[in-house]
Amino acid sequence: MPAMKALILSGGTGTRLRPLTYTSAKQLLPVANRPIVAYAIESLVSCGLTDIGIVVGDTADEVRTALGDGSQFHCRFTYIHQEKPLGLAHAVKTAQPFLGDAPFCMFLGDNLLRHGVGDLVERFRDNAPEAAILLAEVPNPGQFGVAVVERGQVVRLVEKPRDPISPYALVGAYCFTSAIHPIINALSPSWRNEYEITDAIQGLIDNGRRVDASFVDGWWKDTGRPDDLLDANRLVLEELQSRVAGSADAASVVTGRVELGDGAVVTDSVIRGPVSIADNARISHSYIGPYTSIGPDAVLDHVEIENSVVMAEATIANLSRRIADSLIGRQAHIHGEDRRPSTFRVVLGDRSEVHWVP
Ligand code: TTP
Repeated sequence: MPAMKALILSGGTGTRLRPLTYTSAKQLLPVANRPIVAYAIESLVSCGLTDIGIVVGDTADEVRTALGDGSQFHCRFTYIHQEKPLGLAHAVKTAQPFLGDAPFCMFLGDNLLRHGVGDLVERFRDNAPEAAILLAEVPNPGQFGVAVVERGQVVRLVEKPRDPISPYALVGAYCFTSAIHPIINALSPSWRNEYEITDAIQGLIDNGRRVDASFVDGWWKDTGRPDDLLDANRLVLEELQSRVAGSADAASVVTGRVELGDGAVVTDSVIRGPVSIADNARISHSYIGPYTSIGPDAVLDHVEIENSVVMAEATIANLSRRIADSLIGRQAHIHGEDRRPSTFRVVLGDRSEVHWVP
């Protein structure tokens, strides 16, 4: 059998993460100052899967520029252009020339798994089913595709079930043999006009093929919506290792686990970890509270902020209120002024959101 490959899905439209995804691929949005998709890549490489296809869509150029040829991750990337985001099974179909007859592990590029795909891939290799899918027990199965499992095997898949037939939701990682391809080639689009991977897996089962269930160990996160991104940032920072390459002056107090990137400068500020501050960020006269990531070259002056993600080159200054639970995009500016009358003046992009909490 040919060597196993990997496929990362990094196309899609990311509508639920607008406006951030108007200007950025959602898989490149930062979690603890690394692109979300970097965690998937590392997990695949640590399983020995170094021949990786990356499915890209409208944001192809940005993804290529950010990830390169794979050498920075010790693997090789083949970029595969999907004309339209017509569904996960369509993404696999588009990747068929790259995949050939090889078995492969597919990872959704906007999903984060605390323990990666190691167990899933190992079980797939050891037990040789036609497919192995990763499942997690969820309290709200009605919002997911769920799998009915009997004796470790998947017997049925149901999209967003009305009745509680199974608590096991599909998580964004799957292993397949090439048996999936003819089934995908014969699929019809679903009611939402997408070629669904759940239909393809159900097709395997209907053809008498074995689909094994593997269960997530540790947390997992689908970063589809803004709150998910904050959650993911918090979960990853929870395990942050301290690393201080930049500098903090004697007037600053840095406590807890803090990552301070190269060239980052902290002046007269309180940093209470876990906090990640990227290269060349400048923080002065500010408070950076737990579960906050500050992007490269961001500048914060007289600001209090916690449980937030500030992206590259954003500038924030002179705020009389603390920022909490916020996502602040690249090169965004938030500036307060100590003047009367106290007014609120904004220049906001389409579909931006401002929540004023008096
Ligand atoms: P989704 O989150 O299901 O879809 P989306 O990115 O279009 O987001 P939204 O619903 O907010 O518009 O996609 C899961 C992952 O798979 C994500 O990384 C994007 C990727 N994907 C593709 O590469 N091709 C596709 O055709 C689809 C639907 C998704």
